[in-house]
Amino acid sequence: MSIKLTSGKEIPIEMHKTRMVQKIWLPHVDQRLKAIEEAGYNTFQLKTKDIFLDMLTDSGVNAMSDNQHAAMMRVDDAYAGSMTFYEFADAVKDVLGYEYVMNVHQGRAAEHLISKVFAKQGDVVPTNYHFTTTKVHIELTGGALCLEIYADEALKTASTHPFKGNMDPQKLKDAIEKYGKDKIAYVRMEATANLLGGQPFSMQNLREIRKICSEHGLILVLDGSLICENAYLIRQRENGYANKSVAEIVKEMCSFADIFYMSGRKNTCVRGGCIATNNKELFEKLQPWLPVYEGFFTYGGMSQREVAAMAVGMREMVDADVAGCAVEQIKYFVNRLVETGIPVVTPPGGLACHLDATKFLPHIPQSEYPAGALTAALYLASGIRSMERGTISMERDKDGKEVFADLELCRIALPRRVYSMSHIEYAVDRINWLYKHRNAIKGLKFVSEPPVLRFFLGKLAAIDNWGKDLAEAYKKEVCNH
Ligand code: F0G
Repeated sequence: MSIKLTSGKEIPIEMHKTRMVQKIWLPHVDQRLKAIEEAGYNTFQLKTKDIFLDMLTDSGVNAMSDNQHAAMMRVDDAYAGSMTFYEFADAVKDVLGYEYVMNVHQGRAAEHLISKVFAKQGDVVPTNYHFTTTKVHIELTGGALCLEIYADEALKTASTHPFKGNMDPQKLKDAIEKYGKDKIAYVRMEATANLLGGQPFSMQNLREIRKICSEHGLILVLDGSLICENAYLIRQRENGYANKSVAEIVKEMCSFADIFYMSGRKNTCVRGGCIATNNKELFEKLQPWLPVYEGFFTYGGMSQREVAAMAVGMREMVDADVAGCAVEQIKYFVNRLVETGIPVVTPPGGLACHLDATKFLPHIPQSEYPAGALTAALYLASGIRSMERGTISMERDKDGKEVFADLELCRIALPRRVYSMSHIEYAVDRINWLYKHRNAIKGLKFVSEPPVLRFFLGKLAAIDNWGKDLAEAYKKEVCNH
């Protein structure tokens, strides 16, 4: 939650105490330069030993609770029929309201199964926005077209619109008209829209999309990887929800979906995921494929220890203090940057603080990857690892041509219950320094590029060796570490 100080200033306040810690260190800027060059200017390729604050993602790197750790000590490790799985299924029923559930090893495994079973060549999957792995599975596994039908406001990085993750209902109706309802494999809503900057959709919008799906007999799939953040923001921003609990809002959101899936690595702080539904027929279409790709029905590619922790995490994630811990830190972080005129995605959403690289580095064309350059530059100037969410994160088209991203973002994620106010203040300070030196940053060019999801393994180089110049300026002006 957040708390008002007597001065009137509002700050995020942690409703937990830290009783286990991991040591971190601040590598010297010379070490950072060497590391980023060896990493091919790709922060995915850095090693922990070269990183100060790891803000690459909120996936699989959140702090677990004492009760989650305790649950991992007492599990039923049966291959088939594990009672730990049934404890998880009870939690899904209580929290999400679904009768049928299967575990999968992580979110993209759910995307694989759903695309495999429900999408085929020539189909279309309308979505409020794509996520990298989602799009690849819709297109490669399902052979379908991933059709983004977001509201116009979604691509305005500086905005006051409370729900930039909304799907445009009229555009959905137009798509049904254009392609025919038989060609719509399913409609997908992502809570919150990750690549738009963790932006939520409203309950009103979800209700409207549900209505259109029902009128045309379409399956509505809800990606609930960040459902608690979306629910927390509905409570803060949508009329009529201020007095509802996050738990009630989550349940209402789930009631609109035919199929729910999530990466468990975010909200439940566990390396895993699940697919859930109340529709027996849909479940029975998916279920036979589970042991082929994931594992037996009662573990689905996860260890029982993590199934046990996920069961506890599922119940804990709807506590407003858990659902809101990252949201409140992100709000503080974003507002601190807005104060000094740094171009950043507003309003603040879930998951991360996002720098707008198009505005931060207007001199770098998209063909030279401004978001990738800013992500590498931030690492050089701070030791903070963030993530490129721009053109490098896009796939080339069928003819090998570059597809430019709608947004060029440097995503600075805030894992749940991991970093403190002083870490955020440090990040704000170094981002401000970087902004003053933005003209020293130039573009990147690929040195080696894998054929799919190139942002993971691709290696790039700094045009005109700008990394070295930036490191020198940092050493001279900031400090020699
Ligand atoms: N859906 C959304 C909205 C996600 O954010 C992610 C992962 C996935 C699906 C895939 O789940 O990683 O468990 O296979 N997002 C991570 C991120 C990778 O860093 O934003 P996964």
